[in-house]
Amino acid sequence: MRQFPPDFLWGVATSAFQIEGATQTDGRGESIWDRFAATPGKIADGTDGSVACDHYNRWKDDVETMRWLGVKSYRFSIAWPRILPLGRGKVNQAGMDFYSRLVDGLLTAGIEPMVTLYHWDLPQALDDKGGWTARDTVGAFVEYADEVSQVLGDRVSKWITHNEPWCISVLGYGNGEHAPGHKNWSEALAAAHHVLLSHGQAVSVIRANVKKAEVGITLNLCPAQPASPSAEDQDACRAFDGGFNRWYLDPIYGKGYPQDVIADHVAAGRIASEKLDFVRPGDLEAMAAPTDFLGVNYYSRGIIRSDRIPESQNAPRTVHAEPEKTDMDWEVYAGALTDLLLRLKKDYNPKRIYITENGAAYSTGPDADGRVRDTKRVHYLRTHLEASLDAIKQGVPLAGYFAWSLMDNFEWAWGYQKRFGLVFVDYATQKRIPKDSAHLYRAVVARNGLDVELAA
Ligand code: FCB
Repeated sequence: MRQFPPDFLWGVATSAFQIEGATQTDGRGESIWDRFAATPGKIADGTDGSVACDHYNRWKDDVETMRWLGVKSYRFSIAWPRILPLGRGKVNQAGMDFYSRLVDGLLTAGIEPMVTLYHWDLPQALDDKGGWTARDTVGAFVEYADEVSQVLGDRVSKWITHNEPWCISVLGYGNGEHAPGHKNWSEALAAAHHVLLSHGQAVSVIRANVKKAEVGITLNLCPAQPASPSAEDQDACRAFDGGFNRWYLDPIYGKGYPQDVIADHVAAGRIASEKLDFVRPGDLEAMAAPTDFLGVNYYSRGIIRSDRIPESQNAPRTVHAEPEKTDMDWEVYAGALTDLLLRLKKDYNPKRIYITENGAAYSTGPDADGRVRDTKRVHYLRTHLEASLDAIKQGVPLAGYFAWSLMDNFEWAWGYQKRFGLVFVDYATQKRIPKDSAHLYRAVVARNGLDVELAA
């Protein structure tokens, strides 16, 4: 019997900018993603988030879809610029009311809300003052967290401060692939610090406003394996793991920044000295505020090859990517999810873990009969749920799984080309069609286990 624990929290996830549209409605302020998407060349298909899935107007239908799926929880994010159009100051009541209605609608449908406070849509007004590179943004985030948790805290108990600090800082400020599109590594490290600090400071504020608060943060984690046993590949793997995973996990779990990665940053000329000048006394303690859970976003593993020596001088590769890749060119490799969860337990021992995102991009659309046969996503889902169950059997406190995503949506710098949804969205008509993967997920949730078959 491949059953999940009885109280396992089955969910689906989305984020505000990726689905809501209505970017100029009801007093919403501009966000860095509106500005970024309006800048030619930044979004692969030249699109933006102004309509997206029109969820702002269709949220009732989307809640109905979730009720049909049978999920127990919905992870969504709040658009900061709907609440505080200029980042701080006076609350925009219409924006707050939207989320209040959504929360009520979810509760009526028997679906528990899980709120992410920051999923990348920083108010543009704050970016004008330095965005996450500015220490002032920490205070602004804490005020925002306070306002939202005061209003929704009577009905929402599960809170995620930030989604994926690595993406916010490295993609946003390091390599410029995401908004606000800067390319400066010392900015990226300062931004990461301010994001983590704002997380730590917000934890106690949320707890003060929410009776049975469960507070955590979501990290995107990428388990790394050296491509060969050579010393060079092993060291490259250490460095990759350090920069991608430990740089965020270590400070959150009270270990401070990893010394070996600080040394790497200096050696690479990303920062001038090992003294991280954005760190002030008390910051590391604040960042390590105890949390109730760790949110894990897992998509793929990394197979790491050193670029310090020419390929011809390195040892032959012994670890190869599986041939199956998603439309993101990400390898489909479920085994690393089990390894990752076991490692998190061993090295950080979080009270609880939720997989807050896991999923795959495949462009499969409806056949002539209207059915969306996304067999590759069905396979991805099954194997990753198996991997999750393996981890539970080995003692990992995995308490829930949120499929990314409820429906196809605006995939950031890729625009609408990459489809991650369990539900297909026809953007011309806004029609939603549950894919085969949605039917599979529905059956898994109903059985609370994996012994399910799909109709041929
Ligand atoms: C994650 C993001 C999410 C989505 C998936 C595919 O990095 O949190 O918004 O874009 O990737």
